[in-house]
Amino acid sequence: MEQSLVIIKPDGLSKKTAGKIIAFLEKENFKMVACRMFFLDKEKAELFYKEHWGKDFYLPLVSFMSSNPSLVMIWQGDEIISGLRKIVGNTNPDMAEEGTIRKMYARDNRHNVVHCSDSTKSAQREINFFFPEEEIYNWERKEYKK
Ligand code: CMP
Repeated sequence: MEQSLVIIKPDGLSKKTAGKIIAFLEKENFKMVACRMFFLDKEKAELFYKEHWGKDFYLPLVSFMSSNPSLVMIWQGDEIISGLRKIVGNTNPDMAEEGTIRKMYARDNRHNVVHCSDSTKSAQREINFFFPEEEIYNWERKEYKK
């Protein structure tokens, strides 16, 4: 079962799209296994996006991500990485397909509402960045029965 980090970015929270985005993921039958509100201060944002260091959008991106809190989650499901990328849509909302989250809610390629992992390798790094193992829920552990 694959996992992906999902971040509802500061613009997603201030536009009140968190519930809609979560509903989208639930409709796909993906499961949330961890969630917390997280303020990425400048240092944390620089580290999280370090692969983009030196690009022209790096510093404005860091500044945007450290402007307000984000909702940081781990979601799980079959082929969730490619599945999420399809429903989240292109980084640039002008190029995103109709019906995708970014097409509906993003303003531009920086203020693009949501982040999801682009590979299993980056998912592992991103998950470890935010969550200790004990905060990740294992749904198989117990099923509630009446
Ligand atoms: P995200 O999926 O979080 O991964 C890297 C982020 O960098 C991306 O979403 C955008 O917010 C930002 N980004 C990527 N390309 C650009 C760009 N050309 N201009 C501005 N921001 C960008």
